[in-house]
Formats: sequence, structure tokens, C-alpha cells
Amino acid sequence: MLRRRTNDDSGLSLPAVDSAGRDACPPPSETSKRAHPPRAALVCALVFVTLLAAALGVVISSAWRTRGPAAPGAGDAPSDDPRVTYAGKFLNIRPDVRYVGDERCVDCHASECTSFRKHPMGRSLVPINDPSTGERYDAAANNPFGALGSLWEVERRGERVWHKETRLGPDREPLSQTEMEVHYVLGSGIQGHSYLTNRNGYLFQTPVSWFTHKQIWDMSPGFQEERRTGRPISPECLFCHANRVHPIEGTVNRFETPAFDGYAIGCERCHGPGERHLERPGRRDPETNIDYTIVNPRWLAPEPRQAVCEQCHLEGEVRIVRRGRGLYDFRPGLPLDSFWTVFVRASEGAVDHRAVHHVEQMTASRCFQLSTESPSEDQRKLGCATCHNPHDRPSPEERVAHFRKQCLNCHEDHACSMPLAARLAREREDSCIECHMPRFSTTDIAHAASTDHRIVRRPESRARPGERGLPTQGFPVIAFHRGPRGYLDKEISRDLGLALVEMTKDGRTPASQFSSRELALLDAAIERDPNDLDALEARAVALVLLKRPRDALAGFEAVLAQAPRREVSLLGAAQVAAELRQWDSALTYARRAVAINPWMPDYRRILTLLLAQREMWDECRTQCQAWMRLDPASARARVVSVMVLIRIGKDAEAKAEFAKVEALQPANLSEFQDWFARQVRGEIGPPPIGGQ
Ligand code: HEC
Ligand code: HEC
Ligand code: HEC
Ligand code: HEC
Ligand code: HEC
Ligand code: HEC
Ligand code: HEC
Repeated sequence: MLRRRTNDDSGLSLPAVDSAGRDACPPPSETSKRAHPPRAALVCALVFVTLLAAALGVVISSAWRTRGPAAPGAGDAPSDDPRVTYAGKFLNIRPDVRYVGDERCVDCHASECTSFRKHPMGRSLVPINDPSTGERYDAAANNPFGALGSLWEVERRGERVWHKETRLGPDREPLSQTEMEVHYVLGSGIQGHSYLTNRNGYLFQTPVSWFTHKQIWDMSPGFQEERRTGRPISPECLFCHANRVHPIEGTVNRFETPAFDGYAIGCERCHGPGERHLERPGRRDPETNIDYTIVNPRWLAPEPRQAVCEQCHLEGEVRIVRRGRGLYDFRPGLPLDSFWTVFVRASEGAVDHRAVHHVEQMTASRCFQLSTESPSEDQRKLGCATCHNPHDRPSPEERVAHFRKQCLNCHEDHACSMPLAARLAREREDSCIECHMPRFSTTDIAHAASTDHRIVRRPESRARPGERGLPTQGFPVIAFHRGPRGYLDKEISRDLGLALVEMTKDGRTPASQFSSRELALLDAAIERDPNDLDALEARAVALVLLKRPRDALAGFEAVLAQAPRREVSLLGAAQVAAELRQWDSALTYARRAVAINPWMPDYRRILTLLLAQREMWDECRTQCQAWMRLDPASARARVVSVMVLIRIGKDAEAKAEFAKVEALQPANLSEFQDWFARQVRGEIGPPPIGGQ
């Protein structure tokens, strides 16, 4: 039987229940009063090690996004809404022009619609019951497979699909099982498919993906232990992969119902809203012969023409929605950088081609840098659409001839310096791209170019560092559209501040590089616009990074005063309040975070531990159970559950629960066993769940 030690000098015991009559579960006789200092030390050990990673790491990798206009009179607003101030001829730029949906285009543009639906972009996201995705479910397709200590299985029943995780014990007996119903397929399958589950409006990517080339199921790329229960899918992710989504403001991955407005990328993402065009389609301007009711990128100047593709293909290192702009405010016809500041890595020398995406690579090419646009349209500046027609993907038989034709449009006169006979000896079809745009060795990396878009003279050529590649005042990134001196613009320096916090937070740049100089970028932004919530929140996160918890808490509280449901600030506030041992407010913030997002195991963990700290055992037990339901294979959750059971005097249950911990065979099992042995001896103390 488990004995409880009652003397005060145990440095390892959980804090006593307070007498405020809260719903502490164990009867008073079973609890004990304990000295304060050891208790505090203990809870630090219990909560903190784990908290920091959770609050700042797991939550999001999303860019900050403002919605709605900046508050009037707040600082010098970054010029007015470019959709309103637009002075060109297109009639579908203004924010009040409505989207009509792809279905409305079919009647009159059947051929564009049919061919676009065959393009990977026209299949970027589909509901799970779409028959064309082509996965197999048999054992030869690696179903089930083992990963992260579990067995993963994909099961199709009729039109519905589940991803199942089974954790097996030492004798391969099932210890726990979770099922995630899959609702959407993300990725056309060029490389593979990933899958999204919709849990009551909260979207998560599942840990299982389909790999087209190998024709197998396997763990989703980049999924480690901490993503075993699913990765929250941000609106930014779907901005590029779906037509339109309706995110709920302030949340990380919650969407209105229905979440999607058209699944795959649709016509209006590149052509703008269709309302005006439907009113009078095909009415061409007598002078230019252009139908201004809708945007045809063909008629745009090089920069806005590129912006149409850069919306999604300029992934950069960090993308920041500019102050006062919303995620979906961009309209084809406008320049991208009035809506987004896209930061790319500044680098000192040759660019590592693997790390760079299509836009950055193409921009580094001679073809791009030296091509110019003539007003008569005889000659155009190189852009994505020069070689890629989004409605017409060349078939494998056509591809060589298709791309060769695009090259020759510019290179008829200025031709290849390698004699034709020599070329033909090496390349039967004189494939320009085979020699000048070779493929990199195949990888499973989703967002890296696999074809060299630098259009190299010789395959072994290295990229020329363009102006964009130069480092700027020691900052690791520069604004793509602004060049190295871009940060001199106040709004860009604000965006740079946000970007640097983002990169530091998820470990892409060392925390040691984040100093008061970086913080000053955000201070200045807030001074100019005290209602800039994104900057306020980023600044609070920065203060956590700078180990100034008191200021950070004030920062999060300032955000929450204006936007009480901002998930990141709630979690941040819970974290720093706990660090400052302001347990009650930490608890309040953690409760609010759980209420806003009940699907995150990490939030449950934080709340559970804070409740344990307050000895609110009833609620603690409920939360711990909720945590275990979300993550039944978590040994940590079970160990905490053991602790709770001991504290409420359910010794037999505690023993049974600990047997499950042992069956799960966590890496640090021996530590857990030592701890449990101490509990049995009555040396009550917190479980060693910190570091993993
Ligand atoms: C009622 C018929 C109709 C519908 C519906 C319609 N269009 Fe058109 N569209 C036309 C006609 C007619 C033209 C002019 C074609 C021509 O002259 O070759 C045109 C031209 C265009 C052009 C080229 C404009 C230019 O100046 O180059 C684009 C782009 C376009 N449509 C996109 C769309 C999209 C996107 C949708 C759905 C939102 C759509 N259309 C719906 C009839 C329609
Ligand atoms: C800035 C736009 C952008 C964002 C944000 C983005 N992606 Fe992508 N993603 C792309 C583009 C463009 C491609 C295809 C071309 C390429 O490789 O660049 C792609 C490719 C992929 C593929 C491979 C698709 C296939 O057919 O094989 C997967 C899977 C994927 N992304 C998942 C995600 C997930 C999950 C997120 C969010 C966490 C995300 N992406 C965020 C733009 C984006
Ligand atoms: C990824 C961006 C993109 C998407 C999505 C897209 N288009 Fe286009 N569309 C373009 C570009 C770029 C051009 C101009 C091509 C060129 O330079 O000739 C174009 C041209 C057109 C034209 C004019 C064709 C011509 O010959 O003048 C029509 C009509 C059109 N698109 C209709 C559609 C319809 C309908 C859809 C949806 C099924 C659609 N587009 C989806 C990018 C897109
Ligand atoms: C709304 C976001 C978005 C926009 C706008 C967009 N793309 Fe894409 N594009 C994607 C995504 C996502 C993929 C990967 C689709 C997949 O495989 O699931 C992709 C894939 C592609 C591919 C690869 C096709 C293949 O064969 O693998 C090409 C080429 C491409 N896009 C060209 C363009 C061009 C040109 C434009 C501008 C006219 C453009 N895209 C605009 C999101 C976008
Ligand atoms: C929009 C016009 C345009 C298109 C399309 C184009 N190029 Fe170029 N390309 C140029 C210009 C301009 C230069 C610079 C000419 C010079 O060096 O004087 C160039 C330079 C080059 C060079 C020399 C690069 C170097 O580093 O010296 C190669 C190789 C090349 N192009 C190959 C191609 C191939 C292959 C294609 C098709 C896949 C292609 N280009 C498509 C305009 C274009
Ligand atoms: C000079 C011609 C040319 C230009 C310009 C060009 N591409 Fe490509 N792109 C290609 C070729 C060639 C391939 C390989 C196609 C194949 O292998 O079938 C390719 C492939 C792709 C792919 C598939 C993934 C990969 O890397 O193979 C994507 C996505 C893509 N391009 C996007 C873009 C974007 C975005 C732009 C504008 C920034 C762009 N391309 C500009 C020629 C071009
Ligand atoms: C068998 C490989 C091969 C093929 C196929 C090939 N090239 Fe080249 N190309 C080369 C090599 C190698 C050079 C560089 C020669 C040098 O450095 O003097 C070159 C040079 C060039 C240059 C730079 C010329 C200059 O004077 O600076 C251009 C432009 C070019 N190629 C375009 C093309 C186009 C367009 C095609 C397709 C019609 C093509 N190449 C097909 C191998 C090839």
C-alpha cells in the first residue's frame, strides 16, 4: 500500500491543498501542509521545463496575420487599402467585388476548366471521397507500418477513411488505440498526399502520408514524436494549398463551418473576383481589346504579373502580412508587397540551390535579369507564366518540345553556343532544359524546387549572388521585393521585427542573435501604432526570448485586453505567469487556452500541471483524462495520472496505471520506476516528466 509522508521537510512533495474551499478532491485528512520554498522549486521543475517548449514551439509556425483595417488614427497607416486606391483599369480589384466560384466559369470556359482540373494546382486539395487520388490500402503498400513506437494503419470503409494508431506492448498486445477520421487530401500527388482531419472546426494534418513514387504509406515528412497526435494546420498553409478558407480570428487552426470555399485552388485566385465579369463577360475595351471586368495576368506589367504566382510560390523564409492587411486581401493586378512582406535568407556567397525556391532561383537567372519587356509585346520579361501555362500542363511526351519552344522565343537569335551536332549527340531531342535546367536528385522535401530554375550555363555552375543575396546590417533575412535597404522603411522594419521573432521562436536562428536591437524594431512599431496586435504579441514573445517574463506578461495582457481570444497570447500569458509563480492567473489563462482550443494535448498538459500545483485534484484528474484521450500513447500523461491517483488516495488504480506506463516502455522508464518506488515509500514528489 502507498503511504503518504506528512512531514514538512520533504523537498519533493506536491504543494498542500489550499483551504479556500475549492474542489480539491482528497479529503483534508489526506493532504498535508507543506513549506513554501520547496514547493515552488518543485513546481518549477514540474511545469517549466515542459512549458517553454510547448508554448513557444508547438503552437504554430504561422505568420502573423492581421485582419480588418488598422484602427483609424493609429500611427501613420501604411497608405490606404491598395484595392481602394488602385487607379488602373481593371474593374474587379475593389474589395466589394464578390467571388462567384469556379462553377460559374464552366459554362463559358469549359476548356480552361477541364484542363485546369488536371493540373496539380487544380487538384491541390480535395475531399477524401474524391475517387481520383489513387492510393492503395493493401499490405504491399506498407499498410500497416511501424513508426514512433506505434503501428499505423489506414482503413477505408466505403467512402470514409481513418488513420489509426495502435500502441503495442512488449508482447505486441494493444495498449491504446486512436482513430482519426480523414476528411481532406492535401497535395495533388506529384510527390504524395497528406491528409487533414476536421475535429469540430479545428484542422490538423495527420501523421500518415501517401508517397506516390514508392506507392507506400509512411510517416508524414517532418513528423516527430511531438506531432504524433496531429499538426495544427494554419490558415497560411491553406492560403497556398486551397482556394479560400474562413479562419476564426485569433485562433491557430480553427475555421468556420464550412471551412472551405472551394477546395482546390480556383480560377479567381489568379483572375480575381468574377462578379463584374459575369455581369458583362467578354466586353472588350475598343482601344486595347482587353476585357477589364476580370484580370488576365497576360495583360499585366511584369511585377504584378509575377505577383499572381508569388502569392503562393514565393515561400521565402518568413511571410508577414503587412499591418492593416488581411490574409486574403491581395487581388491579382496589384503588387504583392503591398500585402505581404516576404523575407528571404540573406547569404554571403553562392546560394545553396536546395534551400531556395522557384521564385528566388528564377530571379537569380540571367534570363530573368537581362530580359526586358517591350511595349509592343514582342518581348516579355521572363516570368513563371512564360514557361508554365497554369491551364495546360504538358504531357510527358510534350514536355521537352514545350519548354524548348519557350526558350527559343527568346533565344532564336542569341542561341546556344554549343554546336547543334554536339548537343544532339548528347540530347536526342536537343532538350534545352536537360542541360540548362537539370533536375536535382530527387528528394521528399515538399517545398524545395526539384528543377534548377537558375537556368544555368553549365549544370555545375553556381548561382551568382544577386543584390538580394547580400546580408543586411547583420540581419539574417531581407525583404525580397525591397532589397538590402528595405528595412529603412518603417513598415518593413516592423515586419522584419515580426519575422525575426518568428524565426527565433522556432529555432531557425539562435536565440543569442535576438537582442535589444531586434526588440527595438518592434518597440518602434508599437510606438507608431499602439493597436498593432501582431506587433504587440510578437514583442511579448520576444520578451520571453529575452528572459524578461514580467514585461512579457504585461505584453500578453495588453494583447488580451484588446483581443481576449488570441490563442498564442493566452498560452504565452499562462507560461510566463507560471514562471512568475502567479499561479492563479496562470491557471486562468491556461483554462482559457483549453477552452479556445480543446484539441491540443499540450494545452491540456499545461492546465493539468497547473491544477496539480493548486492541488485541485478533481479538475486535475478530468484534465489529465482529457489529455490522455487526446494522446493515449503518452507515457508522460499516464505518469501524471499516476501522480493524481496517488494524491487522491486511489492507490490500486495508481498501480494499475503505472503498469500501463511500464508497458508503454518510454525511453526514461527507469527514471519513472525510481520515482514510482519513491511514491510507494511515501516520498511524494513530482514525476520526472520534464525533458522529453
Ligand atoms: C457567360 C459566359 C462567361 C462566364 C460565365 C465567364 N466568362 Fe470569362 N469570358 C467570357 C467571354 C465571352 C470572354 C471573351 C472571350 C474572347 O473574346 O475570347 C471571356 C474572357 C475571359 C478572360 C480573358 C479576359 C481578357 O481580356 O483576356 C478571362 C481571364 C476569363 N474570361 C475568366 C473567367 C472566369 C475566371 C470566370 C468564372 C469566374 C469566367 N470567365 C466566367 C465569357 C464568360
Ligand atoms: C507560401 C505558400 C505555401 C505555404 C504557406 C505552404 N505551402 Fe506547401 N506547397 C506550396 C507550393 C507552391 C508547393 C508546390 C511547389 C513547390 O514545391 O514549391 C507546395 C507543396 C507541398 C506539398 C507537396 C504536394 C504534392 O503534390 O506532392 C505538401 C505535402 C505541402 N506543400 C504541404 C504543406 C503544408 C502541410 C503546409 C502548412 C503547414 C504548407 N504546405 C504550406 C506552397 C505553400
Ligand atoms: C494559377 C493561376 C491560374 C488559375 C488558377 C487559373 N488561371 Fe486562367 N490564366 C492564368 C494565366 C497566367 C493566364 C494567361 C496566360 C497567358 O499568358 O496567355 C490565364 C488565362 C486565362 C484565360 C484567357 C485565355 C486566353 O487564351 O486568352 C481564360 C479564359 C482563363 N484563364 C480562365 C480560367 C478559368 C476558367 C480558370 C479556372 C478553371 C482559370 N483560368 C484558372 C492563370 C490562372
Ligand atoms: C493559391 C496558390 C497558388 C497560386 C496563386 C499559384 N500556385 Fe502554382 N502551385 C501551388 C501549389 C499548392 C502547387 C502544388 C500543387 C500540388 O501538387 O498539390 C503548385 C504547383 C505549381 C506547378 C507545378 C506543377 C507540376 O507539374 O508539378 C507549377 C508549374 C505552378 N504551380 C505554376 C504556377 C504559376 C505559373 C502561377 C502563376 C500564374 C501559379 N502557379 C500560381 C499554389 C499556387
Ligand atoms: C524571356 C526571354 C528568355 C527566355 C524565355 C529564356 N531566356 Fe535564356 N536568357 C535570356 C536573356 C536576355 C539572357 C542573357 C543574354 C546574355 O547573356 O546576353 C539569357 C541567358 C541564358 C543563358 C546564359 C546564362 C549564363 O549564365 O551565361 C542560358 C544558358 C540560357 N539563357 C538558357 C535558356 C533556356 C534553356 C531557356 C528555356 C528553358 C531560356 N534561356 C529561356 C532570355 C530568356
Ligand atoms: C524558363 C522556363 C521556366 C520558367 C521561367 C519557370 N519554370 Fe518552373 N519549370 C520549368 C521546367 C522545365 C520544369 C520541369 C518540368 C518537367 O520536368 O516536366 C519546371 C518545374 C516547375 C515546378 C515543379 C517542381 C520542380 O521543381 O520540378 C514548379 C512548382 C515550378 N516549375 C514553378 C515555377 C515558378 C513558380 C516559376 C516562376 C518563379 C517558374 N516555375 C518559372 C521551367 C520554367
Ligand atoms: C547537350 C547539352 C546542351 C543542350 C541540349 C543545350 N545547350 Fe545551351 N549550352 C550548353 C553548354 C555546355 C553551354 C555553354 C558553353 C560555354 O560555356 O561556352 C551552352 C550555352 C548556352 C547559352 C549561352 C550562349 C552564350 O553565347 O552565352 C544559351 C543562351 C543556351 N545555351 C541556350 C540553349 C537553348 C535555348 C537550348 C535548346 C534549344 C540549348 N541551349 C540546348 C549545353 C547545351
